[in-house]
Amino acid sequence: MKPFRKWFGGKSEGEEAASALDSDNIPNHVAVIMDGNGRWAQKRGLPRVAGHHSGMKNVKKITMAANHIGVKVLTMYAFSTENWKRPKEEVEYLMKLPLEFFPKEIEELIANNVRIRMTGWPEGLPDYTLKTVQDAIDKTKHNTGLILNFALNYGSRKEMLSGIQRLAQDAKDGKVNPAEINEHLFSRYLLTDPLPDPDLLIRTSGELRISNFMLWQLAYSELWFTDLCWPEFTEPHFYEAIQEYQRRARRYGGL
Ligand code: IPE
Ligand code: IPE
Ligand code: MG
Repeated sequence: MKPFRKWFGGKSEGEEAASALDSDNIPNHVAVIMDGNGRWAQKRGLPRVAGHHSGMKNVKKITMAANHIGVKVLTMYAFSTENWKRPKEEVEYLMKLPLEFFPKEIEELIANNVRIRMTGWPEGLPDYTLKTVQDAIDKTKHNTGLILNFALNYGSRKEMLSGIQRLAQDAKDGKVNPAEINEHLFSRYLLTDPLPDPDLLIRTSGELRISNFMLWQLAYSELWFTDLCWPEFTEPHFYEAIQEYQRRARRYGGL
């Protein structure tokens, strides 16, 4: 094991955990189901939206932590196709968070060579949400560092069905030979194309489920769960998840 090169020199818990990592075995793609914002707030006697606000602030911290250790893609599940079921006021609040997040953080994200991406359906999102996300995508499109991918208005079953519809149409039009449909080709019809599959999935808040997130892409991802709610999940916890990932033996069905 090659010890992780030390950028920090400091002695905080997080920095020590980061420098103890094996730099040859950093997951390329880490996906996070950022869950428990509402419960975090309610435990503190605050409205649920206060948890979303606190959760938003955490996105930058974990992005920087991932960037420091050389993660290539960090996907953050921010809003699912099922989250539209929530009260209108909560949905509206969530849709306005990018308007605060991007103007506040974009300069630092650019300075760190981060590229913004979105995985999800633009349809249904308010124009102001789309505009601020698109603006961040445009401003960072030449960056070559970490891809910060927001799963926004994303649902895996819808993604697969719409991929299958387009694939079926291409087969009907003679562009695809059904006998030649394989995993690689199908992946190209998913919203995540051309990203690699997640190596590690982190879910906060103690829920042990996938909640319609990347069902195809997670086939061989390592799963890591914590009881901590998203707003209280900090850099040392992130490094702890990576450390645990580095202890796992990925076999893909082999030996
Ligand atoms: C995750 O926190 C954020 C979103 C799903 C948008 P929740 O809002 O689901 O918080 P809990 O799970 O109700 O505590
Ligand atoms: C998953 O969390 C979606 C996001 C984190 C955006 P939910 O809170 O919506 O999941 P369930 O309802 O507990 O499965
Ligand atoms: Mg939840």
